[in-house]
Amino acid sequence: MNFENILVNQEGGLATITINRPKKLNALNIATINELQNVFKGLDSDNYVKVIIITGSGEKAFVAGADISEFAHFSVEEGGRLAADGQQKLFNFIEDLSTPVIAAVNGFALGGGLELAMASHFRIASDNAKMGLPEVSLGVIPGYGGTQRLPQLVGKGKAMELIMTAGMISAEEAKEVGLVNYVTSQEELLPLAEKLAGKIMRNSSVAIAGAIKAVNDNFRDGVNGFETEIREIGNCFGTEDFKEGTNAFLEKRKADFPGR
Ligand code: COA
Repeated sequence: MNFENILVNQEGGLATITINRPKKLNALNIATINELQNVFKGLDSDNYVKVIIITGSGEKAFVAGADISEFAHFSVEEGGRLAADGQQKLFNFIEDLSTPVIAAVNGFALGGGLELAMASHFRIASDNAKMGLPEVSLGVIPGYGGTQRLPQLVGKGKAMELIMTAGMISAEEAKEVGLVNYVTSQEELLPLAEKLAGKIMRNSSVAIAGAIKAVNDNFRDGVNGFETEIREIGNCFGTEDFKEGTNAFLEKRKADFPGR
């Protein structure tokens, strides 16, 4: 796969996507959003891929936001369409992927960058990372799901403060409020993401896909996540992974999941 704005590395069951516009602090232009959607779609449909890590190139930024130069002259209709397309193509798309996505936040994660990290299934950060939703300082509001996912992760009051002040928080503060799970040095960031990915890969990918659906349905209006959980656990009982997992336990050996 060859892309202009992203790099993709696949090793074993682990795929790492690096957003690669370091001169623009990896700002998300529409071309990058389209490339990301294509690569996520391809990796999710590849049964061999068990975990995806997303990060930014360079030492300064994960993603410094949506590309401001692209939308500075947009009309009301174009602005609405930008958000709708982006949410559907990338942000909601990532959240609903059946393959786990870890965001390795290696620097600025602002606006669309933080929204991208929040759409991922969980986040870890390097100690130089800075996070925020500065959109109101530009006269807009977060449009790629930020007003919804930030309160889900950090609570309504902290989300209101971060959005209204347009301020940035450090990696340590982000950990304190539950926005990221771990903070480490920049050198250790990808090794930590890979270590977590390794732990995930030892488990049943089919069961993990069911768990992602059930957890996500907790946050979906008009959907009862408990019912999703019942349906998804029911489905697990019909999988080869379930037979392997339970047999391995009873036979006191490590499970070797076929992923079916
Ligand atoms: N969109 C488009 N270009 C961006 C960008 C964005 N969101 N963020 C950074 N860039 C570009 C800059 O325009 C600059 O390009 P240039 O060298 O061609 O002028 C380059 O990336 C480097 O950024 P610069 O501002 O010079 O770096 P800095 O270290 O002084 O500041 C930030 C870093 C992150 C504080 C600053 O770039 C910034 O505030 N970016 C915008 C953040 C934002 O509002 N995001 C939400 C968008 S909705």
